[in-house]
Amino acid sequence: MVFPKKSFLDFRHLNKEAVEFLCAQARRIDIRRSRFMQDKIVALVFLEPSTRTRCSFEMAALRLGLRVINIDASESSLKKGETLSDTLVNIDAMGPDLIVVRHGTDEKLSDVESKVNALLVNGGEGVSGHPTQALLDLFTIMEERGYQSVTDIKDRILFVGDILHSRVARSNFDLLAMLNIPFAMAAPDEWARPLAEEYGCEFFTKVEDGLKWANVVMALRVQSERHLDDQKFNLQYFIHDFQINEARLKKFDPKGLVMHPGPVNWDVELTTGVSADRRCVLFKQVKNGVRIRAALLSQLLEID
Ligand code: CP
Repeated sequence: MVFPKKSFLDFRHLNKEAVEFLCAQARRIDIRRSRFMQDKIVALVFLEPSTRTRCSFEMAALRLGLRVINIDASESSLKKGETLSDTLVNIDAMGPDLIVVRHGTDEKLSDVESKVNALLVNGGEGVSGHPTQALLDLFTIMEERGYQSVTDIKDRILFVGDILHSRVARSNFDLLAMLNIPFAMAAPDEWARPLAEEYGCEFFTKVEDGLKWANVVMALRVQSERHLDDQKFNLQYFIHDFQINEARLKKFDPKGLVMHPGPVNWDVELTTGVSADRRCVLFKQVKNGVRIRAALLSQLLEID
């Protein structure tokens, strides 16, 4: 079996064959057909808000016939100062088979992994990673283009926006770098240049130049809550220089794809008019989130 049966926290234990295998599984999965009840239990521990990730893990688990428990952070002992590690060790003591975690604490899931018996899955960790989002983004490109294999991917992918604060961006960069798929960044200097240097990728100061280079553009949410103390941050300047709008898309590949992991700040990263563009595949990303997470859960929990 090419897919490792261990906690899935990042791309360190995955190789090209494992990604290929998972995408093939996701392609086969019919998310409209429920399976028979399984005896395995998945715990969803979301300590930060989430719509797409939490619901799609739950939907995927239910379609696989798994039982699901949801831990509500606002009603948990985290409110009393319990650490993430203690919370997960206590939930683990109750015997779930797998725990999906989203959190923004200073702790690392990789430090908790050895303390629990259940498999851990990263559902979004601080600004460091959101690997299942990167997998569903890759899978969406494959589905939209009709690629059967990751080696068929010929696209060049441009990331635009608040790259510095984006866990989605980092996981995408790690996955694309592993697969040797070219990517580039377009953003205000302070939001991307150090990361572009770290990953050795192209950096565009003018989004128009990036759109000429790319045939997939991924806009990222401007995380305004993280810019409150940043004197240099100016939303109007960002909108003027980097917003993906109808005028800019006129010069973009007519067969290109426009993506965004959500949630979108409409009329900031993307204009509302862009949602009507046939190249815009935001809801397909959401739909594919269920498929890729169902494929991941079925591999990790050995459900056929
Ligand atoms: N893309 C994503 O992670 O969305 P949620 O925050 O709604 O889960």
